[in-house]
Amino acid sequence: MQVIESVKDMQTFSASAKKRGTVIGLVPTMGYLHAGHGSLMVEGRKLSQLLVASIFVNPTQFGIGEDFESYPRNLDGDLAIAANAGVDVVFAPKAAEIYPDGFQSYVNTEKITLPLCGGSRPGHFRGVTTVVAKLFNMVLPDIALFGKKDFQQLAVIRRMTMDLNFPVKIIGMPIVREADGLAMSSRNAYLSTSERQDALCLKSCIDQARAAYLSGECSRTALQTAAQWLIAAVSSAKIDYIEFCDSRTLETVETVDENTLMALAVRVGKTRLIDNTVFGENQ
Ligand code: PAJ
Repeated sequence: MQVIESVKDMQTFSASAKKRGTVIGLVPTMGYLHAGHGSLMVEGRKLSQLLVASIFVNPTQFGIGEDFESYPRNLDGDLAIAANAGVDVVFAPKAAEIYPDGFQSYVNTEKITLPLCGGSRPGHFRGVTTVVAKLFNMVLPDIALFGKKDFQQLAVIRRMTMDLNFPVKIIGMPIVREADGLAMSSRNAYLSTSERQDALCLKSCIDQARAAYLSGECSRTALQTAAQWLIAAVSSAKIDYIEFCDSRTLETVETVDENTLMALAVRVGKTRLIDNTVFGENQ
């Protein structure tokens, strides 16, 4: 496995692979890799001939007062996980090269970035779309893999890729969970022992709502209220949002059906966690 740090080296490497007709796969990450990232890499390995994983904690997608400085980092551990998953190249650029002095061009996807995480993290998706567009231009992938853990991010990237005519096939991958149901996340590292236990309330909300839906409850208000009660019973937990929306447009629905996305963001202590499910999908 090769590690490339410079943007120019990455572009040259990918351009020459492309000239030879090599199918390039990209898994963009912010590092502190876990089995969720690993699942994207394993699938990327199957679908491409040259698999690139990027590791870059992207400053522009963090708001003021968010956790950019404290975001967990462990390059040595990440390189071991990436190598194990069959990655060919880890692209780990420095922020000064991605955002050099004078940088002022951003990619902004509009309507679909407004609800859910876009509502509570203004500017977040502008940072995500900007860095992903730049990564596409640096790595020149034929396919790129993203997790459904960040359901809205996947939808936003699909929209941007279509709107800007990137010749990249976007592949969405299922949420990988810990044995007790907590969705894997680099931010789980922030949780204390008791918060780790309390964090299970996100998955409990999803399980409770799915069970109610399967037994015939399809009122958004009823499902939302039940979820709010469940979180209210956990003293360290505070709701950011619990929403039920159309999984294609992300618009709020009143009646829940198989296409409905239940998405939640909950703060457990100081850690903001997200999780989701689509009622019609087996998850
Ligand atoms: P990061 O949070 O490191 O996640 C990288 C990719 O791994 C994303 O596509 C995310 O959805 C996926 N992922 C994370 N946890 C997962 C899980 N439990 N199961 C399945 N997939 C999971 O998302 C980002 O980084 C950044 O916003 C990025 C796209 C790299 C742009 O900076």
